Parts: sequence; C-alpha cells; structure tokens
Amino acid sequence: MRKNIVAGNWKMNTTVAEGVALAKEVNEALKGSKTNCDVVICVPFTHLCPVADVIDSNVLGLGAENCADHEKGAYTGEVSASMIASTGAGYVILGHSERRQYYGETSETLREKVALALANGLTPIFCIGEVLEERENDTFNDVVARQVEEGLFNLSAEDFGKIVLAYEPVWAIGTGKTATAEQAEDMHAHIRSVIAGKYGQEVADNTSILYGGSCKPSNAAELFAKPDVDGGLIGGAALKCADFMGIVNAF
Ligand code: 13P
Repeated sequence: MRKNIVAGNWKMNTTVAEGVALAKEVNEALKGSKTNCDVVICVPFTHLCPVADVIDSNVLGLGAENCADHEKGAYTGEVSASMIASTGAGYVILGHSERRQYYGETSETLREKVALALANGLTPIFCIGEVLEERENDTFNDVVARQVEEGLFNLSAEDFGKIVLAYEPVWAIGTGKTATAEQAEDMHAHIRSVIAGKYGQEVADNTSILYGGSCKPSNAAELFAKPDVDGGLIGGAALKCADFMGIVNAF
C-alpha cells in the first residue's frame, strides 16, 4: 500500500550554515520520536552535500527542488539528476508551480526531467495544482487532470509507480489560505480516479498523493485524516523544526 510522506520544501531559504543546523535539528527530533510517515527535506542544491553529511538517511530522506532537463554538458548553471543522486539525495521536486510560473516549465520539459530523475534512481515529487481563476471558474478538475496526463502518462505503469504526486493549489501556497480538507480530498480522489483510468486501480491505490499549500500543525491532522490525502509538501512551516515536527506528528 502507499506510503504516508511529509516532505519539506525549503525553497530559496537559509544559508548553508542555517540549513545544516535546521537539518540536524529535524534529524535529532525524528530520532527521538516514533513517526507514522516517511519524512523528507528538499533543500537548495548548495545544501545537499553538507546536509547529507549530518542526517541519518534511515530517519530523514533528502531531496532537491528541481533538476535539469538534460543529462549533462554545456548547460551553464544547471544541475543534473545524476549530480543530485551523487550527493546521496533520493528525491527531487519537479514541476512546482513556482517553476511553472516563473521559469516557464512546461509538461514537455517536465517529461524530460522525470525521465532523467527516474533513470538516476531519484523519486520525483511531481507537483500539480490550479490557479485561483481556475478554481473560481470551475475548470480545476480538468486543469489538474491535464497536468498529470501531459507530465506523466508517457510512463510505463512500473515507472509511474515510482512517482509521488503533490497537489498544491496555487492560491493556497504561501497565502495562509489552505484548501479545506474536503476540497483536498475531492481533488485527491479525482486525481486517483484519473490514474486508475490509465494504469488501473492497483497502481492508483499505491500512489502517494501529498497536499501542499499553507499546511501547518493546526490543520495537518484534519487534512491527513482524509482517505486520499497521504501527507504533505510543506513550505513555510518546514523552516521551523517545531512546526515541521508538529505536521509530521499529525500522522
Ligand atoms: P507553503 O506551505 O509555504 O504554503 O508552501 C507550499 C509549497 O509550495 C510547498 O511546495
């Protein structure tokens, strides 16, 4: 059956020293407690190696926030999936709405990134989600289904089984405005039915679908109690150990 996962997305925050200190703190907190989910932190590229050195990979997973859409070569400033894997990281966030919005990521480039991540043994945390206008004009179910289909449905069932999905309604990211647990559950069930239509019910039932967008200790338990919500992708609240652990412990 699918895993419950709480993953932090640090975005472009913390210096290396601050990030290492935060990672150590989370690692220590996890060692001292029994959790009912896998816990991952996704950190800036500069932080991957020093963070990998201070965490115990048995209690805390490590991921990047993006990877290049090419294997290697003359792509100044890019970081490849194999470079990420070589740091010891096991995950990579792909298709975050901030990358789709500000860096022009399309389903086409995301298909390349997903393929390279998988080829290098990384688990993609693939983000999808509608903007406010699409929520308000009632096209959100179609928009999100299309993001899943265009970004991932070229994969074999075996490869699709390696993907973690994160539903992040763009209007809820960093706004303090969380989707209600019912809105999250409705969308997650919809996504699962779209997956079942392509790959069958067993693959759909085995896919972890995380919720992201202003998730915090005070609302995590209600969200995670929903049958199709398998955890969270956490932005702001992942930058404070106590808040992040409060969400982890909501399971
Ligand atoms: P916030 O938790 O800060 O709303 O960010 C969510 C997010 O974008 C995680 O990827």
